[in-house]
Amino acid sequence: MMFTLITGASMGIGEAFAREFARKGHNLVLVARSGERLQSLAEELRHESGVEVKFCVEDLSDAASPERIYAFCRSQRAGVDFLVNCAGLSRAGDFDDIPLGKLEEIMMVNMMAMARITRLFLPDMIAKRAGSIINVASLGALQGVPGLGLYSATKAFVMTLSEALYEELKEKGVRVIAVCPGFINTGFFERAGHNSANLRLPISETGVVVKAAIKGLKNNKVRVFPTLIDVALVFLQRLASRKIAIRIAGFIAAVRDN
Ligand SMILES: NC(=O)c1ccc[n+]([C@@H]2O[C@H](COP(=O)([O-])OP(=O)(O)OC[C@H]3O[C@@H](n4cnc5c(N)ncnc54)[C@H](OP(=O)(O)O)[C@@H]3O)[C@@H](O)[C@H]2O)c1
Repeated sequence: MMFTLITGASMGIGEAFAREFARKGHNLVLVARSGERLQSLAEELRHESGVEVKFCVEDLSDAASPERIYAFCRSQRAGVDFLVNCAGLSRAGDFDDIPLGKLEEIMMVNMMAMARITRLFLPDMIAKRAGSIINVASLGALQGVPGLGLYSATKAFVMTLSEALYEELKEKGVRVIAVCPGFINTGFFERAGHNSANLRLPISETGVVVKAAIKGLKNNKVRVFPTLIDVALVFLQRLASRKIAIRIAGFIAAVRDN
C-alpha cells in the first residue's frame, strides 16, 4: 500500500497538507515530535476520510531520525511515493545572538533531515518510476534576510537542492517542487521569538501554500510562490540590486529596528 509521508505534520502548514491529502484519499505517514497531536490528527483523518494514517514520533534534529523513519515505514509495509518535507523552524535575531545549540537544531531540521529523508526514500520512487516530492522552502530563500540570516540560508539550501533534483529526476519518473511561501498564519514566527504583528506584509492562511504546491506539481513547475504579493516581490527582487534586495527583505521581515 502506498503512502504520503509528511514531516512537520503536527501543526501549521504540514497539518494543512495532511488534511488536504487525506481529503484526496492519500494514506498518510505523519512525522513530528508532538505525539499526542499526531495521534489525535491521525484518528480524526482516519475517521473523516477513511484513509490509513500512521504516525512516527521523531525529533528531526537527531541525525539518526531519518533512518528510523525509513525503517518504520518498511516495518509497517508503507511504501512512500509522495513526500512532503515541511518540518522547519527559525530563530529571530542577529546571527551572533543565536545560541550554538539552536544553530545546530535549525540546520539539522531544515537541511540535514530534509536531505537525508529525501535520499532515503528516493531509490524506491525511482525504482517504481513514480514519485512526488514537495519541499517547503520560503520566499526568504531568494536572498539573505537580515535578522533571519541562518533561517534564510537553510531555505536557500532547500530551494537549490530542489531545483537540481527537479532536473535530475525528471527522466526518472519523480517530480520535485519547492514551494516558497511568504508569511503564513501558523504561530511559526512566535515560536521563533518574533512578533508576527511586526511583519510588513499581509499574512496568508495555510491553504494557499497547499493549493499552490499541489497545482505547481501538477503543472510541472520547479518552484512556486503562493500569493500575488509573493510573485510581485520576486519580480522586485530581480529588478533591485543585490544590496537593495537584502535591505528590503530585512525591512519586510522587521526583526531588526531598521
Ligand atoms: N509560517 C510561515 O510564514 C512560513 C513561511 C515560509 C516557510 N515556512 C516553512 O514552512 C514549514 C512549516 O512551517 P509552519 O509555519 O507550519 O510552522 P509550525 O507551525 O511551527 O510547524 C513546524 C512543524 O515542524 C515540526 N518540527 C519542528 N522542529 C522539529 C523537530 N526537531 N523534529 C520534528 N519535527 C519538527 C513541528 O512539529 P513538532 O513541534 O511537533 O515537532 C511542526 O509540525 C517550515 O519549514 C517553515 O520554515 C513557513
